[in-house]
Amino acid sequence: MLLAMLLLLLPLPDPWFAQGHPLYMRLPPSTLQALSAQGTKALQAARRSAQWAVNLVAMEIQHRLRECQSSGPGRPRPQASLLQDPPEPGPCGERRPGKVNVTQAGGRIVGGSAARPGAWPWLVRLRLSGRPLCGGVLVAASWVLTAAHCFSGAPNELLWTVTLAEGPRGEQAEEVPVNRILSHPKFDLRTFHNDLALVQLWTPVSPAGAARPVCLPQGPREPSAGTACAIAGWGALFEDGPEAEAVREARVPLLSADTCRRALGPGLRPSTMLCAGYLAGGIDSCQGDSGGPLTCSEPDPRPREVLYGITSWGDGCGEPGKPGVYTRVAVFRDWLQKQMSAAPSSREPSCRELLAWDPPEEPPADAAPPCAFYARLCPGPKGACASLAHQQCLQRRRRCELRLLAHKLLELLRGAQELFGPSPGMRRQAPALARPAPSLRETPRHRTREQRLHPGSPAAGIVFPKRRPEQRGDTRDCPGLEPLRQKLATLQDTHAWILQVPPERLAMDFQEVLADLSSKTITGLFRAWVRAGLGDRHVVFGGLVGLEPATLARSLPRLLVQALQAFRLAAQAKAEPQGAWMGARQSRELGGKGHHSLGPQVPPARQP
Ligand code: ARG
Repeated sequence: MLLAMLLLLLPLPDPWFAQGHPLYMRLPPSTLQALSAQGTKALQAARRSAQWAVNLVAMEIQHRLRECQSSGPGRPRPQASLLQDPPEPGPCGERRPGKVNVTQAGGRIVGGSAARPGAWPWLVRLRLSGRPLCGGVLVAASWVLTAAHCFSGAPNELLWTVTLAEGPRGEQAEEVPVNRILSHPKFDLRTFHNDLALVQLWTPVSPAGAARPVCLPQGPREPSAGTACAIAGWGALFEDGPEAEAVREARVPLLSADTCRRALGPGLRPSTMLCAGYLAGGIDSCQGDSGGPLTCSEPDPRPREVLYGITSWGDGCGEPGKPGVYTRVAVFRDWLQKQMSAAPSSREPSCRELLAWDPPEEPPADAAPPCAFYARLCPGPKGACASLAHQQCLQRRRRCELRLLAHKLLELLRGAQELFGPSPGMRRQAPALARPAPSLRETPRHRTREQRLHPGSPAAGIVFPKRRPEQRGDTRDCPGLEPLRQKLATLQDTHAWILQVPPERLAMDFQEVLADLSSKTITGLFRAWVRAGLGDRHVVFGGLVGLEPATLARSLPRLLVQALQAFRLAAQAKAEPQGAWMGARQSRELGGKGHHSLGPQVPPARQP
């Protein structure tokens, strides 16, 4: 990386001159190489995330199929997002028979002892864009309880997934998308008061799988101080240490409110927080365990585990005199019940529901899911209300699309910016550039070409295609399967541009960046034409580039993002020639001609 940055500092060669004034300038090969290297990294990241998105839906399909098989023909399960899913008082908190391995007092716990596979069937892992961030606890077929602070800074449910518990023989854990995040309305990030959130899964856990819900406390009573309860998670093995590779568990005694307050001071609010652990230190939960369970065994009416705490915070991990703090689940019973049993139409549809919705051309006569929520508040006649609800649904769906798009672009930009952040040395060595002559400012020809090649608004690149009708006999018996298959096909289409490039050819090749020196913008950037290659595909697009080290470094991430977009559009144009965006087609045609220079339309070069 350092080397790449140093290469960027080399003076820029190769300007064209007219009447002694430079007209165009090429970025030097060293800069192109650095840009290509970063482009290749961005491509690899894009491929990983595309593969991840496709795998996720493939897993959803498997999950759905298994669910349909287990519910048998004729008794299909409705889609989770439409289920009321009240936490049935069915079986909960059952641990599989087997030796319980939880660490005894005195054993080392920050790091803990490894749990048997499948020992905690309600323990789940919450992932943000695939990265594990928190634990969680399955409390009903489609509800996970976790800590609200896990979502601070990342409230977009579309980015979260839940990995369910693996089976007792290490059977693969399922990954389920999140439909909705309900953080406690009184959660306070400063004090961690009310650190609790319910997460609704997109599909309920399959009764055939390994995941099982834990029991929620039935009343306000909690086990007394001194009761040995259990904690589990993938959290850090010690403070600032690495995360555990497999679930770890430990036994910790509940401490009295007085002991907790004495140990942790006014930060502890006993009305909603409890603490557990050892004043001697050494056994505790740690970073990454948040949202995970603190469960206590109860013998009656049958042996079961009941969830009394959600891992929330601590002062270091396993420090002497500093027990861990857990959100008291029993005091939130009413809130939990209310959220989990709310009618679907009482809540605004989630982005995931709206993005999966295939809107009818005409508003239906009666507002149905997911739009029924909007009709509830409407005072007018039924038909008018249904039409209004339909409009509101469409509007919110559009906002969800934009949110997803903005996030994707931001993520790409952020990734690129991290790689290209300007280094302090760059400013010092800025090469002085000749100012272009005023008479040579922008000609109409440039503008036309620029318009033709510039992809326009970034939104142009991302499509939310309509589903394609597909005939599959077996999907009739399994509701929800067909939309998933269509979603998979759509995703495969959308990501084909990158998934179809063989891994060994996944290299970005910036061949030329030609800056028009007469086109300096007020932000100090110049209009430029960029030619880049990926596999056997070549694209040309217009962009803006800085020609001094600081502006150059600032402009490169955007060029990179534009290159990715151009390749995607070119691939889409190839796949669907009639509906293709013109610039993309142009890019493809240019690609066919191979390595011609971007310079044929500019005046002949004259050496200084
Ligand atoms: N807040 C942490 C997390 O986000 C959990 C910390 C628990 N700390 C402790 N000492 N018990 O994962």
